[in-house]
Amino acid sequence: MEVVILAAGKGTRMNSSQPKVLHSIGGKAMLSHVLATARELDPAAIHVVIGYGAEAIQAHYPNSGINWVLQEQQLGTGHAVQQTIPHIDQDQDDNIVLVLFGDVPLISPATLQSLLNETGQENVSVLSVISTAPEGFGRIVRDDSAAVQSIVEHKDASAGQRLINEVNTGIMAIPAARLGDWLQRIGNSNKQQEYYLTDIIALAVADGLEVKAIQADNELEVMGVNDKAQLALLERHYQMQQTKQLLEAGVTLRDPARVDIRGELLCGQDVEIDINVIFEGKVKLGNGVSIGANCVISNTSIGDESVILPGCHIDETEIGCAASIGPVARLRPGTKLADGVKIGNFVETKKAVIGPGSKANHLAYIGDADIGSACNIGAGTIFCNYDGANKHKTVLGDNVFVGSNSVLIAPVNLADNSFVAAGSAINTDVAADSLAVARAKQRNIPGWKRPVKGQG
Ligand code: UD1
Ligand code: CA
Repeated sequence: MEVVILAAGKGTRMNSSQPKVLHSIGGKAMLSHVLATARELDPAAIHVVIGYGAEAIQAHYPNSGINWVLQEQQLGTGHAVQQTIPHIDQDQDDNIVLVLFGDVPLISPATLQSLLNETGQENVSVLSVISTAPEGFGRIVRDDSAAVQSIVEHKDASAGQRLINEVNTGIMAIPAARLGDWLQRIGNSNKQQEYYLTDIIALAVADGLEVKAIQADNELEVMGVNDKAQLALLERHYQMQQTKQLLEAGVTLRDPARVDIRGELLCGQDVEIDINVIFEGKVKLGNGVSIGANCVISNTSIGDESVILPGCHIDETEIGCAASIGPVARLRPGTKLADGVKIGNFVETKKAVIGPGSKANHLAYIGDADIGSACNIGAGTIFCNYDGANKHKTVLGDNVFVGSNSVLIAPVNLADNSFVAAGSAINTDVAADSLAVARAKQRNIPGWKRPVKGQG
């Protein structure tokens, strides 16, 4: 079996400069969904027909093993498939060509497998669906004994044919040995002056082959995307499929309609997720993890029993067990938090490795830092990691206390049990068990007269 994916069309109604098949569902290009599904069927080759935005599409899939086939002018679906014929093995008697559309993203491997199971050398199989809104689609024309005779495009259909509500999804399985011949025989004398792939159906019937129309049972699974409204509809459907699986696996979702999974989310037991949470890329949540409202979490793992309070933004971070993050914390790439770490409100971390039980409870920037266990980073502490040209590192041993509103000017080391007085600017290493005070000495001026308004 070889797969042909049609993706050359412009998608005019998307009103976008981006090729249609690169628009995403669940954070992944529509074409990527179709490719992933195709690969599950283990085809001998995958040919993707591209035209509009060909370079952008190819650039999206480096080293993918895809056979790209250029269709310079989009003269119809039949013409598109014809471009792949020189690349398809037609000598192998039992080779089947499975035609998919790059803009039908939610088709499942199971549905395609059932279509392939019905396809042999002596028949063509078409995936159809009973449509609640058949307008615009090709109709499946059957004879009195319900045998498929042809597919007629909406624009070419008679008034009687337009009453048919069984429509062509576009997905077909065709014996490779016959396909090239049929494609050579189709013409373009129709309303759209296009070479219709659907015209091979009548040719197959005329050649004495049986055509089976296998009905899909879910209209959304086989729905194509032509505009942003359909993209949004399928996005929601896809998200509801994902949240359904999570609910079945025992995850508590306060509202499944208000969680978006744009990638892969793995959850342990007794995970709770509040509303308006977005997961991107690969996210792993351990047992008993709780995610508060309004968080965006990307490519991150969170250990058992950790709590993420509302409003956090977490990217490329590893969080240990029983940690507490937020509310409103920002953990940037390269943050690694050990068990029991507390990161409070308005704290930003970047490339910060923080040891067990250490805390930064309020208002801090911790960048390029290596912090031991049981440290306390006071409110308003800034790790000055950047000198305007280069980044430098700050290292804290265990049990270090940094008083509020201090700046630690990297590179600098604060050894075990050292203590920084509040308001210090530290640019020299502090030895173990020492107190560092680095601030102007306070003077008190008795009887000082305050400035008076208007007397400058
Ligand atoms: C097609 C079917 C129609 C079916 C409908 C389902 C034909 C003639 N019609 O119609 O029976 O009900 O899909 O959505 O097949 N493409 C190319 N090159 C081209 C033309 C199209 O690669 O020259 C690609 C498009 O990018 C798209 C797919 O083929 O992914 C379908 O093309 P589209 O123009 O949307 O076909 P429809 O008119 O919707
Ligand atoms: Ca279409």
